[in-house]
Amino acid sequence: MKKIGSILVLLSSALCGTGRPMAAQQAAPAVEASRAAKSTSWWKNAVIYEIYPRSFQDSNGDGIGDLNGIASRLDYLQELGVDAIWLTPIYPSPQVDFGYDISDYAAIDLQYGTLDDFSRLVAAAKRRNIGIIMDLVLNHTSDQDPWFKESSSSRTNPRAGWYMWRDPKIVDGHRQPPNNWVSDFGGSAWQWDPARQQYYYHEFYVQQPDLNWNNPQVRKAMYDVARLWIGRGVVGFRLDAITSLFEDPLDRDEPYIPGPDGQPRIDAYGDKEVENIYTDNLPEEHGVLRELRQATDAAGGHRVVLIGETYLNSIDDLRRMYGANNDELQLPMDMQVGFINKFDVALFRRRINEAETGLDGGQPLFVFDNHDNPRWDRYQTGAAGAPQSAYGPHHDDIGRVIAAVLFASHDTALMYYGDEIGMATTPPTRKQDVRDPIGIRGWPREKGRDGERTPMQWNAGPDAGFSSAGVKTWLPIPESYKTVNVAAEERDPDSMLHWYRRLIALKKNDSALHEGEEIMLNTADGHVLSWLRKAANGEAVIVACNFTGQPQTVSFDLSAQGVGGTGLKTLLMTPGAREPQSIASVRLGPYGVYIGQIR
Ligand code: NOJ
Repeated sequence: MKKIGSILVLLSSALCGTGRPMAAQQAAPAVEASRAAKSTSWWKNAVIYEIYPRSFQDSNGDGIGDLNGIASRLDYLQELGVDAIWLTPIYPSPQVDFGYDISDYAAIDLQYGTLDDFSRLVAAAKRRNIGIIMDLVLNHTSDQDPWFKESSSSRTNPRAGWYMWRDPKIVDGHRQPPNNWVSDFGGSAWQWDPARQQYYYHEFYVQQPDLNWNNPQVRKAMYDVARLWIGRGVVGFRLDAITSLFEDPLDRDEPYIPGPDGQPRIDAYGDKEVENIYTDNLPEEHGVLRELRQATDAAGGHRVVLIGETYLNSIDDLRRMYGANNDELQLPMDMQVGFINKFDVALFRRRINEAETGLDGGQPLFVFDNHDNPRWDRYQTGAAGAPQSAYGPHHDDIGRVIAAVLFASHDTALMYYGDEIGMATTPPTRKQDVRDPIGIRGWPREKGRDGERTPMQWNAGPDAGFSSAGVKTWLPIPESYKTVNVAAEERDPDSMLHWYRRLIALKKNDSALHEGEEIMLNTADGHVLSWLRKAANGEAVIVACNFTGQPQTVSFDLSAQGVGGTGLKTLLMTPGAREPQSIASVRLGPYGVYIGQIR
């Protein structure tokens, strides 16, 4: 299975509804005025907002977003209710993979600003109770990193063993890569290095050589990087490609994945598809995670959160990422809920229930969107995304359903910039416009990830308020900015932006929605996903999401859950819906959402 990219079609399945702007303001007593004062578990049930810095806000008119731009939007983020911001990589980089090819882990790329800008951003965010989470790329560096330059210079230099160097296989007198491992970004995962007369392994681009995590010096160097940024005030790390750190020590060939004709399947890059049993999720990674956790706990007073990019196939694999003694990741991403990619009620129910009951008390981190996959409009247009930006008839309804699952579940919620205004995926329509190298290599089957990285749409003015008037932005601004933008949605009480704000306010302030246990209801219903949130103080809230385009009416009996009342106080529902009087009959419009407190 490919681990990233628009090609990521994980497992499979479903969704629900919508709501009325009424109740968030009158929600139950505040849970905590300021979790961001950062207790050691501030990240539990928090809201984390992913920013792709190139695309959020440009402050200096070069068409590329930057740190000062982000700082200028902190009030907006505070009003939205986010607890922390995850910044995708801002370190110096040749930008082959737009920052995921780091050439200096201690500094900031000048495109984005300076270390002083970074300190000001950290301080300004802190004043608003918002923490900064850095992306930490441990699996690989850039080939321009001095570590790699030194390592590739000879077989005897002090860093000779820092990367995955291998001798060639000689077949009929010809040099061949050591095995059949393929890069996630196309072609062999082995690159010949003339200076060393050896191959090096790269899971991603040729310019992203994999580090050798068996080497204790590599481990120490990276833990030092983590300590450095904790000293600079960050509250967590999102660990890139964290299941890829180790490879099979015997270099065994990966098995091919057969197609219907029994021959290996061919991917968008023309490669034979392989399983990743020898290159992904190897047991050795757990030792590294424990060491890293010790380092970050010690340096950060147990307040620093480790978030994992963990595309895994089962709840058991996900549970292992927390560590047998809760001593590894606090928040491995649960990709099994958000990337179901179709409205399959039964599958959503099963996966959410697994997260609630199958993680040994580990905190689930749900996510529907990121910079590697089509945005949530894929639930309408298909997992591969629409050929062009698409706002279908139920676009907003579907967005409200997805947001309800994300924010009204018993989880920490990870969202992606632009989700809150309903920005749709806008892929390039011509190969010559593609910026993401995998889109150039894989065109037309793989169009790359530009479609989910377009600039934030702030207003209907020039450059959508992202950059200065008339500047050519690094990716084009989708035409939709004229109506889909923050300023317009501020003015419309029924907008997606207000829906997100109300849901987030409920998640933060309503005891049941903040930390209550989650119990699936009406488990035989194939159209409506419903659940109960029950707080320790006795407060109970039901959430119902219609996963279909037809109206549905649902009825609840909560006696088995020990909930006595049958009346309802509406907390939120799809704009225009009729308020139900009791749990005996809750009517939902197409993709409608209802959230109400039991009375
Ligand atoms: C996962 C990141 O999210 C993606 O954008 C990047 O290309 C790869 N890891 C390689 O670092």
